[in-house]
Amino acid sequence: MNSSVILLSLPLIGILMLMNEQTDLLEQAKAVLQTNDQGNYTIPAEGLYPHQWLWDSCFIAIGLRHIDIDRAKTEILSLLRGQWHNGMLPNMIFNPDNQYRRDREIWRSWSNPYSPDKLATTGITQPPMLAEAVVKVGERLKKAERRSWYKQTYPALLAYHEWLYSERDPHAEGLVLQIHPWEIGLDNTPPWMQELHDHQLAFWIQAAKKLNLGWFINLFRRDTKRIPGIERLDPIEALAFYSIQRRLRRKSYDIDKILSHSLFAIEDLTFNCILIRANQHLQAIAELIKEDLPHELSDRMKQGEAALEQLWDVYSGQYYSRNFVTHKLLKEPSIATLMPLYAGTITKDRADQLVRLLENSHIFGSAFPIPSVPLNSARFQPHTYWQGPTWVNTNWLIIDGLRRLGYTDHAAALTETTLEMIRKSGFYEYFSPTDATPAGAQNFSWTAALAIDFLKQS
Ligand code: GLC
Repeated sequence: MNSSVILLSLPLIGILMLMNEQTDLLEQAKAVLQTNDQGNYTIPAEGLYPHQWLWDSCFIAIGLRHIDIDRAKTEILSLLRGQWHNGMLPNMIFNPDNQYRRDREIWRSWSNPYSPDKLATTGITQPPMLAEAVVKVGERLKKAERRSWYKQTYPALLAYHEWLYSERDPHAEGLVLQIHPWEIGLDNTPPWMQELHDHQLAFWIQAAKKLNLGWFINLFRRDTKRIPGIERLDPIEALAFYSIQRRLRRKSYDIDKILSHSLFAIEDLTFNCILIRANQHLQAIAELIKEDLPHELSDRMKQGEAALEQLWDVYSGQYYSRNFVTHKLLKEPSIATLMPLYAGTITKDRADQLVRLLENSHIFGSAFPIPSVPLNSARFQPHTYWQGPTWVNTNWLIIDGLRRLGYTDHAAALTETTLEMIRKSGFYEYFSPTDATPAGAQNFSWTAALAIDFLKQS
């Protein structure tokens, strides 16, 4: 072969190798989802997460739609089994197997009259990703099928959004509040942990902290038996999470009773940005099936977009979560800082400011972005849960926002580094943003599902 032929064929070889790699990754991702498939729903990962989680199933359906559209629909419909009679969607539906009796007993959802009759769930929710998942599945359907899919899911979606505003926005501010870090899905994210340490550590937890009893607390945990402690919640924080949960259970998850006795309520930035986007989807669904949204709900939805701007801090040029009671902004940067890009309602000027943070290699622009806490934060730890690692679901949200706002090059680059990270390290729960070392659970479902979605889009 002469040298010009070799040169010409190189790009082709490169393309073929890349295609091969993509196919391999796709097949591996499918296998992960298959392993975690329970028939009607998918668990996040074997061993560590044996139940069905709300936003996990939404991300999983977004991936499944490319490989088995009926199975994707089932994933969503199985979530709706857990919907409470007041519209609430719980963050977890418990596996009915006998071995998980203790998990169900810890929550005792049946103490609330609105809980579902035949299922045990938690008594709190998670970010409202349902509308996004319904629409993403709808995009893969023909027009008539899409319409009937929307008709089928609309009543549950409407009831959920109405519940969010009626129960979680008691002062009609346009922002909904959350009562437990598990509700935001970013469990130990710095703004919430700061509030927890400042106001919520009961005296006996403070005593355990002073006496360095972390090792003792870990004896009772499921996660640290499987995953190194450094990658999980700090034991004192884990204990505080359970203590807040017990307090909610004592009030049978009745929001009026909870709010009259507790000051731990936060209008979380990520949750509210996801709700703003979910509202846009709900509106589009209603239009397509020729339903009118109730006036009160549409008013609140409009108000929500405007209220997001109250979370902007001019001095630091960033958005933050807010304490519901004091209205103080919780000025701890985290991955939430970038979530207004996903909401999609912010001005070009503010979006540019956020994109600059993403580009900055000392802030969010790490080698394998996007870190869940910026690199220049004193709280940054590369392997510790939501205190530094890169998570694929938050990348997906921000990429989706970037694309809609016209930052298509940024979106494409981030998609590429996310896939590279997974190719390098596997389908883990999270990864070090500096060198992509994997951490947390192995064979993690949303990492696999969203990798499928990225591969099918690129
Ligand atoms: C962890 C994550 C949460 C997720 C759950 C199940 O608690 O913080 O976001 O839903 O695991 O994967």
